[in-house]
Amino acid sequence: MMADNPWKEIEDYISEINNSVCEDAAALETFRIRFLGSKNVVKPIFGQIRNIENERKKEFGQKVNELKSVAEAKYAELEIAIKQSTKSAATQNIDLSLPAEPFKQGSRHPVSLVMNRIIDIFEKIGFVTAEEREIEDDWHNFTAMNTPDDHPARDMQDTFYLKDSVNYLLRTHTSSVQSRVMTSQEPPIRIIAPGRVYRNETISARSHCQFHQVEGLFIDENVSFADMKQTLLYFAREMYGPETKIRLRPSYFPFTEPSAEMDVFMGTADEKSRKLTKGTGWLEVLGCGMVDPNVLENCNIDSKKYSGFAFGIGIERSAMQKYDIGDIRWLFENDVRFLKQFSTVI
Ligand code: DAH
Repeated sequence: MMADNPWKEIEDYISEINNSVCEDAAALETFRIRFLGSKNVVKPIFGQIRNIENERKKEFGQKVNELKSVAEAKYAELEIAIKQSTKSAATQNIDLSLPAEPFKQGSRHPVSLVMNRIIDIFEKIGFVTAEEREIEDDWHNFTAMNTPDDHPARDMQDTFYLKDSVNYLLRTHTSSVQSRVMTSQEPPIRIIAPGRVYRNETISARSHCQFHQVEGLFIDENVSFADMKQTLLYFAREMYGPETKIRLRPSYFPFTEPSAEMDVFMGTADEKSRKLTKGTGWLEVLGCGMVDPNVLENCNIDSKKYSGFAFGIGIERSAMQKYDIGDIRWLFENDVRFLKQFSTVI
């Protein structure tokens, strides 16, 4: 088609472009082919430049370029508009009346529940949480803790040593954190150390080769047995109720002197407490004692200036008692049918 007036033709195309609307991607493509494709409508108009009088050729060229830029700008604008309308169509298709996707709520492990509770209780009176390695060396686990070379706890029967090593082992108690902390910090020290420990025991409903403890350590000047007793009474009353009674029975641990075991009174009123306490009413909860001066000296703490107390609380037994769990193995099997029962416990 040879237009009589190419100037007018350009103006007509520009207004056509400006008035263009595209409903969808197909319409946009038609627009692109018409104005920007390899056989677009602009090219033949440009060819008409030879019919234009010389003095207006430049002006004509500029007009054709304007047509091209208008087409390009419009194309970009239409493209954005189409993308947005596709997006909002997707949003509009959401049916807000549908029931929501169920939100799967996780649950805390009963061991963590008890451990966190104990940490909270001691943090309230200024104990700071210390965490240490589970692969420990002999010195921090045994020697520094005043455990003689011939002590049965060192026996291969009880301790998991790393392959081909007599020096590295899986810590058998969180008491190893005591020696770690005492060799790296100056007194006063007031820490609790929660964590997993390992012993080479036959697995049964009552005992496992892995379990958890929370260790406590308090070192300062003039710390006495009475301080320990009051701290542990506070703990027992927070944990088991404000009227809870405790008793300390003499015991033996290599790292404390004197040593004791603490029982809490559960009573014998119901079948559960009688079973739990073997008819005595007393439940053993932790081991404790005044830190043996040898332990302080092993860790370069002056035992003439400083004294302290320590304690170790087993977690599994408390968790089993608290949540009526009949078999320790259930705590380590990660069976969701077991675990999800704790999702409502905070
Ligand atoms: N480490 C002991 C155990 O595993 C528990 C223990 C007893 C920790 C007395 C202590 C303590 O800190 O003073 O059986």
